Amino acid sequence: RQRILSGMQPSAGSLHLGNYLGALVHWVKMQEDYDAVFFIPDLHAITVPQDPAELAARTRITAAQYIAGGVDVDKATLFVQSHVPEHAQLAWVLNCITGFGEASRMTQFKDKASKQGSEQASVGLFTYPILQAADILLYQPEGVPVGEDQRQHVELSRDLAQRFNARFGETFVVPKPFIQKESAKIYDLQNPTAKMSKSASSPMGLVNLLDDPKVTAKRIRSAVTDTGTSITFDREEKPGVSNLLTIYSALTGRSIASLEAEYEGKMYGHLKVDLAEVVAGSLGPIQARAAELLDDPAELDRLLAKGAAKARETASATLADVYAKVGFLPTP
Ligand code: TYM
Repeated sequence: RQRILSGMQPSAGSLHLGNYLGALVHWVKMQEDYDAVFFIPDLHAITVPQDPAELAARTRITAAQYIAGGVDVDKATLFVQSHVPEHAQLAWVLNCITGFGEASRMTQFKDKASKQGSEQASVGLFTYPILQAADILLYQPEGVPVGEDQRQHVELSRDLAQRFNARFGETFVVPKPFIQKESAKIYDLQNPTAKMSKSASSPMGLVNLLDDPKVTAKRIRSAVTDTGTSITFDREEKPGVSNLLTIYSALTGRSIASLEAEYEGKMYGHLKVDLAEVVAGSLGPIQARAAELLDDPAELDRLLAKGAAKARETASATLADVYAKVGFLPTP
């Protein structure tokens, strides 16, 4: 079986619909056919300031959502990044074969740093993509399922794998980005030309997996729609309505065309009321399962510890190979 690897930051307590529909639902499908490795990148989370108690809580909540959303810990390997020290260790080696200019060209860094100002932005934020390359290369995966926004980071991990292999001998599998073409890209409800994002969206622009259905219904009712009245999919002219149709279709498995037919002659308000129900119905069971898992943090921690032990078997073998190849003495 081919291996895949992916992760989602614990930077907010709840995942949003973009994370869920753009990533998690695909992971859950892929774990059936691939040797799947999923993790929670808490080391990445601290590249921007975090409240320590909140970070700890969010890491558990994120893990609970992975499992409640369908990640099966008996099929996939699920762990927390900081439990596997090899991530930070390999990142150091990769930092040393990455060009300063190369790292400076990462668009996500440029975006985040320009928001924070270059005095505030941390060096960790600068080397973030290199840590991400370490996350990936440690496990020798063939594929990295991510949204389009992560493509450049996966490309960097390919470049670094090829560079290391050329310089020190065959060591890493060169991974491919697995960007689901048909996968839903979900947009901000208030600003439907920008992607839904925990850092960039206003609260009213987000649909969170763990929010009260009443809160979500209100946000969907307040979603920005477009001039005109027809409920048709047109990303250019009707980004707001198109986003609602995308969410509806992704959650129900119904085609956009069948939704357009059903809502012909109806008003935006009808679509919004129905969509709020669809969302509540889909997220209800996930919320219930997540709450159960969070009720027993000791059991959740035990599952994560098991996942970390399994992950370390692969990670430590890769790191030992890398250390030997760069010329470090055998670890005593
Ligand atoms: P993160 O946490 O920003 O996003 C997690 C996944 O969700 C996808 N995504 C979306 N998809 C559709 N619509 C949206 N509005 C939307 N917003 C987010 C992202 O494409 C991603 O697949 N750097 C990574 C985390 C990471 C990682 C890794 C990923 C760290 N190490 C190694 C893969 C492999 C990140 O910040 O993703």
